[in-house]
Amino acid sequence: MGLNIILITGASSGMGRETARQLDKIYTDKIDEIWLIARRRDRLTELAGELSHSCHILEMDLNDKSNYEKLDAELKLLDANIKLLVNAAGFGAMGKFSEIDLDKQIDMVNLNCVALTAVTGIALKYMSDNARIMQFASSAAFLPQPGFSVYAATKAYVLSFSESLNAELKPRNISVTAVCPGPVDTEFFDVAGMTFGSFEIKKYFMANERDVVKEAIADTYHRKPTSVYSFPMKAFKAFCQTVPEEPIVFALEKFINRNKTDSDSKEDYEQ
Ligand SMILES: NC(=O)c1ccc[n+]([C@@H]2O[C@H](COP(=O)([O-])OP(=O)(O)OC[C@H]3O[C@@H](n4cnc5c(N)ncnc54)[C@H](OP(=O)(O)O)[C@@H]3O)[C@@H](O)[C@H]2O)c1
Repeated sequence: MGLNIILITGASSGMGRETARQLDKIYTDKIDEIWLIARRRDRLTELAGELSHSCHILEMDLNDKSNYEKLDAELKLLDANIKLLVNAAGFGAMGKFSEIDLDKQIDMVNLNCVALTAVTGIALKYMSDNARIMQFASSAAFLPQPGFSVYAATKAYVLSFSESLNAELKPRNISVTAVCPGPVDTEFFDVAGMTFGSFEIKKYFMANERDVVKEAIADTYHRKPTSVYSFPMKAFKAFCQTVPEEPIVFALEKFINRNKTDSDSKEDYEQ
C-alpha cells in the first residue's frame, strides 16, 4: 500500500480539529496526507490551509450511508495505508427522551454508533499491522444518564465496541483507544442544548480541548485501551465501577428535575 495517511472524522471543529492540529506537528515525516471528513467544507478548507501536511478534504454527511461506499472507493483509488484513524464525529442532545425530536435521536444513534462502526470497518481494510485507532467515546459511557439518555447509551456502545476490538486486533498489533473525556469546551454544547440540570453539573468539570486531545494522543501512542482526562473524571470512572448503578441514576434524575416548578409538575401530571 502506497500513501500513508491519517483519517479524521469530525475534523471541522472541536476535538477532531484539535487532533488534526496536534498530529500535524507530531508526525512530521511518516505521514503523506491527512484526510479530513465533515459536512462543513469551508471549515475543512480553512483547517487544511493551517496544516503543514497536505490534506485531502472529504465533505461528507456520515449519516448518509451512500458516503460509506464513496469513502471506500477513495481509499482504494488512492492506495491508502491508514496509520491512524480518528473517529471524532458525533453529537448529543440534552433533555428527556420523550421531549427530544425522535428523528434527531435516531440520527444521533446513526452518527455516534452506525457511522463510527462503518468507518472503522472500512478503514480496517486499508490498515497495515501496527496501526492505531482513536475512538471518541465519553465519560457519559460510564453511567446511564437521565436527561442525556440516548447520548450516554451511544457512548457506552463506543466504549464497549472499542475495548472488544482492541482485544480482537492484538494479533495485528493494531490498538484501539477509547477517549472518554468529561465535558469539554467545544461547539458540542451549542449543538446539544444546555438543559438546566444536566448542564449545571457538567459546567463545573469543563475541560480545555487542547489538554484533552494532548492526553488522548499520548494514550493512543502508548496503545492504552482508554484515555480518561483529569482526576475528577478518573475518580468518576472508579466511582461508577464500584457503587451500584441504580441509586446513582435515580439521584441524577432527581437532581435534573429539581428546578421544576409546581406548575410544571402540575402540567406534567395533567398531560
Ligand atoms: N465536548 C464534549 O463535552 C465531549 C465530551 C466527551 C465526548 N465528546 C465526543 O467527542 C467527539 C467530538 O466532539 P466535539 O466536542 O469536538 O464536538 P463538535 O465541536 O461539535 O464537533 C463535532 C464534529 O462532528 C461533525 N459531525 C456532526 N455531524 C456530522 C455528520 N452527520 N457527518 C459528518 N460529520 C458530522 C461536525 O462537523 P460538521 O458539522 O461540519 O459535519 C464536527 O466536526 C464527539 O464524538 C463527542 O460526542 C465530546
